[in-house]
Formats: sequence, C-alpha cells, structure tokens
Amino acid sequence: MTVPGDKSISHRAAILAGLANGPCRVTNFLPAEDCRNTLEAMGALGVDYEVLDSNEHGPVNLMIYGRAMELKRPADPIDCGNSGTGMRLLAGVLCGQEFKSVLEGDDSLSSRPMDRIITPLEKMGANIVAVGKSKGCAPIEIKGGALKAIEYEMPVASAQVKSAILLAGLFAPGKTTVIQPAVTRDHTERMLAQFRVRTVTDGNAVSIYGGQIPEAVELAVPGDISSAAFWIVAASAMPGSRLLIKDVGLNPTRTALLGVLVRMGAKIRDVVRTGLDGEPAGNLEVQGNALKGTELREEEIPNLIDEIPVLAVAGALAQGLTVIRHARELRVKESDRISAVVENLRILGAEVAEFEDGLEIDGGRPLKGGVLDSFGDHRIAMAFAIAGLFSEGDTVIKNTACIATSYPGFQKDLESIRVRQKR
Ligand code: S3P
Repeated sequence: MTVPGDKSISHRAAILAGLANGPCRVTNFLPAEDCRNTLEAMGALGVDYEVLDSNEHGPVNLMIYGRAMELKRPADPIDCGNSGTGMRLLAGVLCGQEFKSVLEGDDSLSSRPMDRIITPLEKMGANIVAVGKSKGCAPIEIKGGALKAIEYEMPVASAQVKSAILLAGLFAPGKTTVIQPAVTRDHTERMLAQFRVRTVTDGNAVSIYGGQIPEAVELAVPGDISSAAFWIVAASAMPGSRLLIKDVGLNPTRTALLGVLVRMGAKIRDVVRTGLDGEPAGNLEVQGNALKGTELREEEIPNLIDEIPVLAVAGALAQGLTVIRHARELRVKESDRISAVVENLRILGAEVAEFEDGLEIDGGRPLKGGVLDSFGDHRIAMAFAIAGLFSEGDTVIKNTACIATSYPGFQKDLESIRVRQKR
C-alpha cells in the first residue's frame, strides 16, 4: 500500500513555498483538513496557488507562487482549524510581517498552550498576545514588525516551537539559535536547505541567519510515516502477516517507532533512498510476529510522540509489560492522549496503569470489542480502529470525523486491509 503525504512536511511546504522568490511546484501534498487550512491561510496572506491535480479530498499537486517574504495583510482572522503545527509555524512568520493578523482555531486548538511560542517570539521583539478564554491560548493577535535575533533554550522538546523561532529568525538580522532539550523532527531545517537557505546544526542547537530569501524549488512530499504507523502496528502484531508500504518518509527523527517494534519482536526492513538535502524516503516491509512488551527510552519519545496511541495498542497485544513514561507532552496534543488511551484500553479489557507522564500496559490479555470515543482526536480514532481489528466482537468508535484532519481515506484503507485479512 501507499499512504497519503506527510502532514508535517506539507504544512512546511505551503509556508516556505509562499515565502519563496518564485513559483514552486509541490507534489503529493496532503489533502487533509489541517494542511488545507495552512494552504488557505497562505492564500489569505496574498499567496496565489494553482491546484494542478486533486483527489476527492483536496489538492495533491500544486503550483505555489511565492511572494519573496512579503505577505499581504489578511482581511479576516486566519482559521487554523485543529492544527497546532499550522498555528505555531504561521505565528513565527507573521511576527516578521508589517501588519496586524489574528490566528484562531477550533475548541481543541483553543485550549492548547501557545505561551511556548509567545515567550521566545516576544524575546525577538514581536508584539504577540494570546487572547483566548484559557490563559496563554488562541486566538493569537500579532502586530508584526522588526525582529531581533536571539539565542533561546527551549524548555520542551518541540519541533513546532523550534520551527516557529527559525521562521521568525528568517526575518531577524543576525544569527538566531534554538537549543533543544532533545532532538526533534528536522523537517524545517531540511526543507530550508532545499530552498537554499542555510541553517547550522550543532548537536541539539540549530541556527539560522536572517535576511535569506528562499529560492523557488520543486518539492515532492513523501508518504506520512505517522499514518503508515497504524498499518505497521497492525501487521507487526499479527503473526503470519506481510505488509509492504511504498514511498513513505523515513526521516530518522520520525522512525523511532520502527526500532521499538523490532525490539518487541516485529520483523521490519526498510530501504531508504536519501537525497543530499531532501527527506529520506523509501519502502518498508513488515512481517508479523508474537510481540513482547518493552520500555520506551526517554530520548525516543520526541521521535515517536504521534505514534504513542497506536504503540500503546501494540503494548496491549504484546505479552508482558510495555512502559511509556517521559511523555507528559501527550496531555497537550489534540486531546489528552494519556487519559484517552487509558480509558479506551480499559474498555477493551486491557490492564493499564496511568501516570502523570505516561502509562504502563500489562499486555497479552484478550481484548473484547466495546464502544469507544475518539475525544475528537484523529490519532485516537485510528489507533483504536487497529485495536478493534484484534478484539473479539464489534468495536464502535464514535466521533470519527476528526480522521479527516490527517488521513483522508483511512476508512477505505482499513476496509481493504480487513478484507485481505479475511481471505
Ligand atoms: C509536529 C511536531 C510535533 C507533533 C505534531 C507535528 C510538527 O508537535 O506532535 O503532530 O510538524 O512540527 P510538538 O512540536 O508540539 O511536539
């Protein structure tokens, strides 16, 4: 199978192409709500784009006409929908623009912490305030203007925060440096390199020099490993299964899930083709096996953070203990993913302990179907669809419209894999 385009990379493609000095062709853009919102946000900021090809979910191949760093004042508040990445990255860009703008989102996004970007952007001289009902939350009002370069040590390991600062740093004369407590996904740095913008990575520190204008290029977005993760776990946990996923992103800052599944007993082989400055991508083959529990290491967490819901499902299917700690960040994702996973696993009959920063699953008990909520969170909905494949009787997941934020066509792919499983 193949999976739709990578969500993180698609957001960045829409933003950086819109800032580039000419037309950029982007192929395999993710036609999901989150990335469509970012593309439309760039449209509202004066960036013209042409849809070259689309499918039933939205645009896939695009020509984006970059405005050489100068955007236009939007007529209305910009709606980021459900997407933390969209809002945080756009905030970095808007701080460098000479106009007022407002970023808003849905209820989930309006309860997620924005102070983590506001603090460093204020240090850069930005005029940015969170005016939401909850303290430090969206909507965000920005009055852009001159920025100054800073060196900033991030208190949380977040690629969104790092990227917001690097994007703002493009507008600040001098060298802006972000120091991460742990290495996070490096798509922004890689894509900046593709756009001929130089960044310097030194251990956990990343620097950018302001004043560089991204050179228009062509970008091809690989398949999303976080979407593939659902099928990778399903295949890994089913002895006798074989799955081949083609053209999927295999960036090492995104593939920690594979190492964990191998440790649990899955057989996984990936063949990577890497460009010099592009994204590693390739094919991935999985063979199922009887899994056993494992303990996640702290440094693995940022590089599999979005896969933890489905990894917890793998833990419930594995014999013995699976320990997931140091993952407090899960509480401020699209839902509180620790409590959502714990509640749903318990309904299916799994033995789970909840901690402030994670969970522990004593796996291997047979699961039985039940009625579960997605809590409006796409990854919870999809992770428990996979749990349903392994549960006795029917599993009903309520509130699944959210799947469209990251994986349009998930239900169709689930059906096709289920049919093959029956044969
Ligand atoms: C993302 C970074 C991660 C991840 C999110 C996408 C990105 O969030 O959970 O789904 O594209 O930069 P944080 O940076 O907040 O950890």
